[in-house]
Amino acid sequence: MADEVENTSGTYTVGEAARLIGIEPHTLRRLESRGIIPAPVRDKRGRRYTRADIEHIREHYGTRRRREAYTIAIVNQKGGVGKTTTTVNLAGAFAINGHRVLVIDFDPQVNATSTLGISWRDVEYSIADVLGTTPDGTTKRLSEIIVPLPHHPSLFLAPSSIKLAYTEMSLINRPGRDTRLDSAIEPIRKEYDIILLDCPPTLGMLSFNAMTAADGIIVPIDESLALQGAGQLLATRKECADIGRRRVALLGALLTRQRTQTAAAEVIEELTKEIFGSRVFKTKIPERVGIANSTGMGRPLVFTDAREADVFFSLAEELEGMIHATK
Ligand SMILES: Nc1ncnc2c1ncn2[C@@H]1O[C@H](COP(=O)(O)OP(=O)(O)OP(=O)(O)O)[C@@H](O)[C@H]1O
Ligand SMILES: [Mg+2]
Repeated sequence: MADEVENTSGTYTVGEAARLIGIEPHTLRRLESRGIIPAPVRDKRGRRYTRADIEHIREHYGTRRRREAYTIAIVNQKGGVGKTTTTVNLAGAFAINGHRVLVIDFDPQVNATSTLGISWRDVEYSIADVLGTTPDGTTKRLSEIIVPLPHHPSLFLAPSSIKLAYTEMSLINRPGRDTRLDSAIEPIRKEYDIILLDCPPTLGMLSFNAMTAADGIIVPIDESLALQGAGQLLATRKECADIGRRRVALLGALLTRQRTQTAAAEVIEELTKEIFGSRVFKTKIPERVGIANSTGMGRPLVFTDAREADVFFSLAEELEGMIHATK
Protein backbone atom coordinates (compact mmCIF):
# COMPACT_ATOMS: atom_id res chain seq x y z
CA MET A 1 0.00 0.00 0.00
CA ALA A 2 2.23 2.75 -1.32
CA ASP A 3 -0.14 5.59 -0.41
CA GLU A 4 -0.51 4.54 3.20
CA VAL A 5 0.99 6.71 5.93
CA GLU A 6 4.17 5.33 7.54
CA ASN A 7 3.25 4.27 11.02
CA THR A 8 5.13 2.32 13.62
CA SER A 9 2.98 2.46 16.76
CA GLY A 10 -0.21 0.90 15.30
CA THR A 11 -2.25 4.05 15.95
CA TYR A 12 -2.57 7.23 13.92
CA THR A 13 -2.68 10.97 14.62
CA VAL A 14 -5.56 13.16 13.39
CA GLY A 15 -3.45 14.24 10.41
CA GLU A 16 -2.44 10.68 9.50
CA ALA A 17 -5.97 9.32 9.89
CA ALA A 18 -7.44 12.16 7.81
CA ARG A 19 -4.92 11.47 5.04
CA LEU A 20 -5.75 7.77 5.02
CA ILE A 21 -9.48 8.50 4.79
CA GLY A 22 -8.92 11.22 2.18
CA ILE A 23 -10.37 14.17 4.11
CA GLU A 24 -8.93 17.24 5.86
CA PRO A 25 -8.09 17.04 9.60
CA HIS A 26 -10.60 19.89 10.18
CA THR A 27 -13.31 17.76 8.61
CA LEU A 28 -12.46 14.80 10.80
CA ARG A 29 -12.65 16.95 13.94
CA ARG A 30 -15.92 18.47 12.74
CA LEU A 31 -17.46 15.02 12.20
CA GLU A 32 -16.56 14.17 15.79
CA SER A 33 -17.78 17.40 17.33
CA ARG A 34 -21.11 16.95 15.50
CA GLY A 35 -21.43 13.40 16.86
CA ILE A 36 -21.49 11.88 13.34
CA ILE A 37 -18.62 9.58 14.29
CA PRO A 38 -17.31 8.78 17.79
CA ALA A 39 -14.14 10.51 18.97
CA PRO A 40 -11.13 8.16 19.22
CA VAL A 41 -9.24 7.32 22.40
CA ARG A 42 -6.74 9.84 23.66
CA ASP A 43 -3.38 9.17 25.21
CA LYS A 44 -0.73 11.64 26.28
CA ARG A 45 0.12 12.31 22.63
CA GLY A 46 -3.49 13.40 21.94
CA ARG A 47 -6.15 11.71 19.77
CA ARG A 48 -5.02 8.32 18.45
CA TYR A 49 -6.97 6.46 15.76
CA THR A 50 -6.79 2.69 15.39
CA ARG A 51 -7.07 0.82 12.08
CA ALA A 52 -10.61 -0.17 13.13
CA ASP A 53 -11.55 3.51 13.70
CA ILE A 54 -10.31 4.40 10.22
CA GLU A 55 -12.18 1.52 8.59
CA HIS A 56 -15.36 2.57 10.43
CA ILE A 57 -15.07 6.14 9.14
CA ARG A 58 -14.35 4.95 5.59
CA GLU A 59 -17.46 2.79 5.74
CA HIS A 60 -19.50 5.83 6.73
CA TYR A 61 -18.64 7.24 3.27
CA GLY A 62 -18.82 4.12 1.19
CA THR A 63 -21.87 2.09 2.08
CA ARG A 64 -24.90 4.33 1.73
CA ARG A 65 -27.72 2.96 -0.33
CA ARG A 66 -28.56 5.38 -3.12
CA ARG A 67 -31.99 5.59 -4.66
CA GLU A 68 -32.12 8.76 -6.68
CA ALA A 69 -30.37 12.03 -6.05
CA TYR A 70 -32.50 14.84 -4.70
CA THR A 71 -31.77 17.80 -6.99
CA ILE A 72 -31.82 21.35 -5.64
CA ALA A 73 -31.50 24.52 -7.75
CA ILE A 74 -30.25 27.63 -5.96
CA VAL A 75 -31.97 30.42 -7.88
CA ASN A 76 -32.50 34.17 -7.83
CA GLN A 77 -32.23 36.44 -10.86
CA LYS A 78 -30.78 39.12 -8.56
CA GLY A 79 -26.97 39.11 -8.55
CA GLY A 80 -24.73 38.83 -5.50
CA VAL A 81 -27.34 37.50 -3.05
CA GLY A 82 -25.20 34.52 -2.00
CA LYS A 83 -26.30 31.77 -4.42
CA THR A 84 -22.78 30.47 -5.05
CA THR A 85 -21.68 30.83 -1.42
CA THR A 86 -24.75 28.84 -0.36
CA THR A 87 -24.24 26.19 -3.06
CA VAL A 88 -20.60 25.37 -2.33
CA ASN A 89 -20.87 25.42 1.47
CA LEU A 90 -24.10 23.45 1.52
CA ALA A 91 -22.51 20.90 -0.83
CA GLY A 92 -19.54 20.59 1.51
CA ALA A 93 -21.79 20.27 4.58
CA PHE A 94 -23.84 17.52 2.91
CA ALA A 95 -20.63 15.66 1.93
CA ILE A 96 -19.25 15.92 5.47
CA ASN A 97 -22.60 14.62 6.77
CA GLY A 98 -22.09 11.47 4.67
CA HIS A 99 -23.91 12.19 1.39
CA ARG A 100 -22.43 11.77 -2.06
CA VAL A 101 -22.79 15.21 -3.63
CA LEU A 102 -22.52 16.67 -7.12
CA VAL A 103 -22.35 20.43 -7.72
CA ILE A 104 -23.29 21.52 -11.23
CA ASP A 105 -21.94 25.00 -11.94
CA PHE A 106 -24.63 26.33 -14.25
CA ASP A 107 -23.41 29.91 -14.45
CA PRO A 108 -21.11 31.22 -17.25
CA GLN A 109 -19.43 33.39 -14.56
CA VAL A 110 -17.75 30.13 -13.40
CA ASN A 111 -17.85 31.23 -9.74
CA ALA A 112 -18.78 27.89 -8.16
CA THR A 113 -16.02 26.19 -10.17
CA SER A 114 -13.37 28.67 -9.00
CA THR A 115 -14.69 28.79 -5.41
CA LEU A 116 -14.29 25.00 -5.34
CA GLY A 117 -10.63 25.45 -6.33
CA ILE A 118 -10.77 24.58 -10.04
CA SER A 119 -9.29 27.19 -12.40
CA TRP A 120 -11.16 27.74 -15.66
CA ARG A 121 -7.81 27.18 -17.41
CA ASP A 122 -7.77 23.59 -16.18
CA VAL A 123 -11.32 22.80 -17.33
CA GLU A 124 -11.10 20.68 -20.47
CA TYR A 125 -14.81 19.99 -20.89
CA SER A 126 -17.62 21.78 -19.10
CA ILE A 127 -21.39 21.67 -18.75
CA ALA A 128 -21.47 23.82 -21.93
CA ASP A 129 -20.17 20.77 -23.87
CA VAL A 130 -23.00 18.66 -22.42
CA LEU A 131 -25.83 21.06 -23.27
CA GLY A 132 -24.25 22.33 -26.49
CA THR A 133 -21.40 20.98 -28.59
CA THR A 134 -17.62 20.78 -28.12
CA PRO A 135 -15.31 22.66 -30.56
CA ASP A 136 -15.08 19.49 -32.70
CA GLY A 137 -18.86 19.35 -32.96
CA THR A 138 -19.61 16.48 -30.58
CA THR A 139 -21.59 16.45 -27.36
CA LYS A 140 -20.29 15.14 -24.03
CA ARG A 141 -22.24 13.09 -21.52
CA LEU A 142 -22.51 14.64 -18.05
CA SER A 143 -20.57 11.69 -16.57
CA GLU A 144 -17.61 12.53 -18.86
CA ILE A 145 -17.10 16.06 -17.54
CA ILE A 146 -17.52 15.46 -13.77
CA VAL A 147 -14.35 15.89 -11.72
CA PRO A 148 -13.63 14.78 -8.13
CA LEU A 149 -12.73 17.56 -5.70
CA PRO A 150 -9.75 17.47 -3.33
CA HIS A 151 -11.74 18.69 -0.31
CA HIS A 152 -13.73 15.53 0.27
CA PRO A 153 -13.97 12.07 -1.35
CA SER A 154 -17.78 12.36 -1.71
CA LEU A 155 -17.81 15.78 -3.38
CA PHE A 156 -17.84 16.16 -7.18
CA LEU A 157 -18.16 19.03 -9.66
CA ALA A 158 -19.52 19.45 -13.16
CA PRO A 159 -17.55 22.62 -14.04
CA SER A 160 -18.81 25.57 -16.04
CA SER A 161 -17.11 27.73 -18.65
CA ILE A 162 -17.79 31.11 -20.23
CA LYS A 163 -18.94 29.18 -23.32
CA LEU A 164 -22.14 28.44 -21.42
CA ALA A 165 -23.35 31.95 -22.33
CA TYR A 166 -23.27 30.99 -26.04
CA THR A 167 -24.84 27.64 -25.29
CA GLU A 168 -27.73 29.46 -23.64
CA MET A 169 -28.38 31.41 -26.84
CA SER A 170 -28.07 28.33 -29.05
CA LEU A 171 -30.61 26.46 -26.90
CA ILE A 172 -33.39 28.85 -27.88
CA ASN A 173 -34.03 27.16 -31.23
CA ARG A 174 -33.57 23.58 -30.06
CA PRO A 175 -36.30 21.03 -29.31
CA GLY A 176 -36.74 20.23 -25.62
CA ARG A 177 -34.84 23.42 -24.88
CA ASP A 178 -36.26 23.78 -21.34
CA THR A 179 -35.52 20.25 -20.19
CA ARG A 180 -32.10 19.47 -21.67
CA LEU A 181 -30.33 19.62 -18.31
CA ASP A 182 -32.91 17.29 -16.75
CA SER A 183 -32.27 14.78 -19.57
CA ALA A 184 -28.49 15.13 -19.15
CA ILE A 185 -28.75 14.43 -15.40
CA GLU A 186 -31.07 11.43 -15.80
CA PRO A 187 -28.38 8.71 -16.39
CA ILE A 188 -26.44 9.69 -13.24
CA ARG A 189 -29.24 10.38 -10.76
CA LYS A 190 -28.67 7.09 -8.94
CA GLU A 191 -24.96 7.79 -8.46
CA TYR A 192 -25.44 10.71 -6.07
CA ASP A 193 -27.52 11.46 -3.00
CA ILE A 194 -27.79 15.19 -3.63
CA ILE A 195 -27.20 17.35 -6.71
CA LEU A 196 -26.91 21.13 -6.28
CA LEU A 197 -27.32 23.52 -9.22
CA ASP A 198 -25.74 26.97 -8.94
CA CYS A 199 -27.71 29.30 -11.24
CA PRO A 200 -26.74 32.58 -12.95
CA PRO A 201 -28.33 35.92 -11.94
CA THR A 202 -30.81 35.86 -14.83
CA LEU A 203 -34.21 34.33 -15.40
CA GLY A 204 -33.40 32.87 -18.83
CA MET A 205 -32.89 29.49 -20.49
CA LEU A 206 -30.25 28.38 -17.97
CA SER A 207 -32.39 29.06 -14.91
CA PHE A 208 -35.41 27.45 -16.66
CA ASN A 209 -33.32 24.33 -17.37
CA ALA A 210 -32.08 24.26 -13.77
CA MET A 211 -35.60 24.51 -12.40
CA THR A 212 -37.14 21.85 -14.67
CA ALA A 213 -34.31 19.54 -13.51
CA ALA A 214 -34.93 20.30 -9.82
CA ASP A 215 -36.94 18.48 -7.18
CA GLY A 216 -36.78 21.65 -5.13
CA ILE A 217 -35.45 25.21 -5.17
CA ILE A 218 -33.80 27.47 -2.61
CA VAL A 219 -34.16 31.22 -3.10
CA PRO A 220 -31.43 33.24 -1.33
CA ILE A 221 -32.64 36.72 -0.37
CA ASP A 222 -30.20 39.36 0.90
CA GLU A 223 -30.87 42.70 2.51
CA SER A 224 -31.08 44.68 -0.72
CA LEU A 225 -34.12 44.90 -2.95
CA ALA A 226 -33.85 41.25 -3.95
CA LEU A 227 -37.57 40.85 -3.32
CA GLN A 228 -38.57 42.90 -6.35
CA GLY A 229 -38.26 39.88 -8.63
CA ALA A 230 -39.57 37.26 -6.20
CA GLY A 231 -43.10 37.20 -7.64
CA GLN A 232 -41.79 36.65 -11.16
CA LEU A 233 -39.42 33.94 -9.91
CA LEU A 234 -42.22 32.06 -8.16
CA ALA A 235 -44.43 32.28 -11.27
CA THR A 236 -41.55 30.88 -13.33
CA ARG A 237 -41.09 28.05 -10.82
CA LYS A 238 -44.70 27.05 -11.39
CA GLU A 239 -44.32 27.12 -15.18
CA CYS A 240 -41.19 24.95 -14.92
CA ALA A 241 -43.08 22.45 -12.76
CA ASP A 242 -45.82 22.34 -15.45
CA ILE A 243 -43.38 21.88 -18.36
CA GLY A 244 -41.03 19.37 -16.72
CA ARG A 245 -41.31 16.02 -14.96
CA ARG A 246 -40.18 17.11 -11.52
CA ARG A 247 -41.96 18.78 -8.63
CA VAL A 248 -39.79 21.90 -8.39
CA ALA A 249 -40.97 22.37 -4.81
CA LEU A 250 -40.27 25.68 -3.15
CA LEU A 251 -38.02 24.47 -0.32
CA GLY A 252 -37.73 27.99 0.99
CA ALA A 253 -36.38 31.51 0.90
CA LEU A 254 -33.01 31.73 2.61
CA LEU A 255 -32.17 35.02 4.33
CA THR A 256 -28.53 35.69 3.51
CA ARG A 257 -25.95 38.38 4.28
CA GLN A 258 -27.89 39.40 7.40
CA ARG A 259 -26.52 42.14 9.59
CA THR A 260 -27.98 41.61 13.03
CA GLN A 261 -30.62 43.95 14.38
CA THR A 262 -30.74 46.43 11.53
CA ALA A 263 -34.10 47.92 10.63
CA ALA A 264 -33.53 46.82 7.02
CA ALA A 265 -33.03 43.20 8.11
CA GLU A 266 -36.35 43.23 9.99
CA VAL A 267 -38.25 44.78 7.08
CA ILE A 268 -36.78 42.28 4.59
CA GLU A 269 -37.63 39.38 6.89
CA GLU A 270 -41.24 40.58 7.22
CA LEU A 271 -41.59 41.09 3.45
CA THR A 272 -40.01 37.71 2.75
CA LYS A 273 -42.53 36.04 5.05
CA GLU A 274 -45.36 37.90 3.30
CA ILE A 275 -44.28 36.52 -0.08
CA PHE A 276 -43.00 33.07 0.91
CA GLY A 277 -45.33 32.37 3.84
CA SER A 278 -44.00 29.57 6.02
CA ARG A 279 -41.42 28.69 3.36
CA VAL A 280 -38.57 30.64 4.94
CA PHE A 281 -35.63 28.70 6.39
CA LYS A 282 -35.09 29.03 10.14
CA THR A 283 -31.37 29.22 9.44
CA LYS A 284 -30.22 32.69 8.43
CA ILE A 285 -26.79 33.35 6.95
CA PRO A 286 -25.15 36.37 8.63
CA GLU A 287 -22.94 38.88 6.82
CA ARG A 288 -19.41 37.90 7.91
CA VAL A 289 -15.97 38.93 6.71
CA GLY A 290 -14.84 35.30 7.05
CA ILE A 291 -17.54 34.24 4.55
CA ALA A 292 -16.58 37.05 2.13
CA ASN A 293 -12.87 36.22 2.37
CA SER A 294 -13.45 32.53 1.73
CA THR A 295 -14.64 33.25 -1.84
CA GLY A 296 -11.10 33.58 -3.21
CA MET A 297 -9.59 30.70 -1.21
CA GLY A 298 -10.50 27.86 -3.56
CA ARG A 299 -11.90 25.98 -0.59
CA PRO A 300 -15.39 26.37 0.89
CA LEU A 301 -15.52 27.60 4.48
CA VAL A 302 -17.06 24.34 5.73
CA PHE A 303 -13.71 22.63 5.05
CA THR A 304 -11.92 24.92 7.51
CA ASP A 305 -12.34 25.12 11.27
CA ALA A 306 -14.05 28.56 11.01
CA ARG A 307 -17.04 28.99 13.33
CA GLU A 308 -18.87 30.94 10.59
CA ALA A 309 -19.30 27.64 8.75
CA ASP A 310 -21.70 26.27 11.39
CA VAL A 311 -24.75 27.96 9.81
CA PHE A 312 -24.30 25.90 6.64
CA PHE A 313 -24.52 22.70 8.71
CA SER A 314 -27.74 24.00 10.29
CA LEU A 315 -29.12 24.66 6.81
CA ALA A 316 -28.06 21.17 5.67
CA GLU A 317 -29.90 19.69 8.66
CA GLU A 318 -33.09 21.62 7.90
CA LEU A 319 -32.93 20.37 4.30
CA GLU A 320 -32.16 16.78 5.29
CA GLY A 321 -35.41 16.79 7.26
CA MET A 322 -37.36 18.11 4.26
CA ILE A 323 -35.76 15.71 1.78
CA HIS A 324 -36.33 12.76 4.08
CA ALA A 325 -40.01 13.68 4.37
CA THR A 326 -40.46 13.55 0.58
CA LYS A 327 -38.83 10.13 0.06
N1 LIG B 1 -22.85 35.83 4.29
C1 LIG B 1 -21.95 36.58 3.65
N2 LIG B 1 -21.15 37.43 4.32
C2 LIG B 1 -20.24 38.20 3.67
N3 LIG B 1 -20.05 38.17 2.34
C3 LIG B 1 -20.82 37.35 1.62
C4 LIG B 1 -21.81 36.50 2.21
N4 LIG B 1 -22.40 35.78 1.23
C5 LIG B 1 -21.82 36.15 0.08
N5 LIG B 1 -20.88 37.09 0.30
C6 LIG B 1 -20.03 37.75 -0.71
O1 LIG B 1 -20.87 38.42 -1.63
C7 LIG B 1 -20.43 38.23 -2.95
C8 LIG B 1 -21.56 37.58 -3.75
O2 LIG B 1 -21.82 36.30 -3.20
P1 LIG B 1 -22.15 35.08 -4.16
O3 LIG B 1 -21.15 35.00 -5.25
O4 LIG B 1 -22.35 33.89 -3.31
O5 LIG B 1 -23.54 35.59 -4.72
P2 LIG B 1 -24.31 35.08 -6.04
O6 LIG B 1 -25.75 35.25 -5.78
O7 LIG B 1 -23.84 33.73 -6.41
O8 LIG B 1 -23.78 36.11 -7.12
P3 LIG B 1 -24.07 36.03 -8.72
O9 LIG B 1 -25.49 36.42 -8.87
O10 LIG B 1 -23.11 36.99 -9.33
O11 LIG B 1 -23.81 34.62 -9.14
C9 LIG B 1 -19.17 37.37 -2.89
O12 LIG B 1 -18.07 38.20 -2.98
C10 LIG B 1 -19.26 36.72 -1.51
O13 LIG B 1 -17.99 36.51 -0.95
MG1 LIG C 1 -23.08 32.99 -8.24
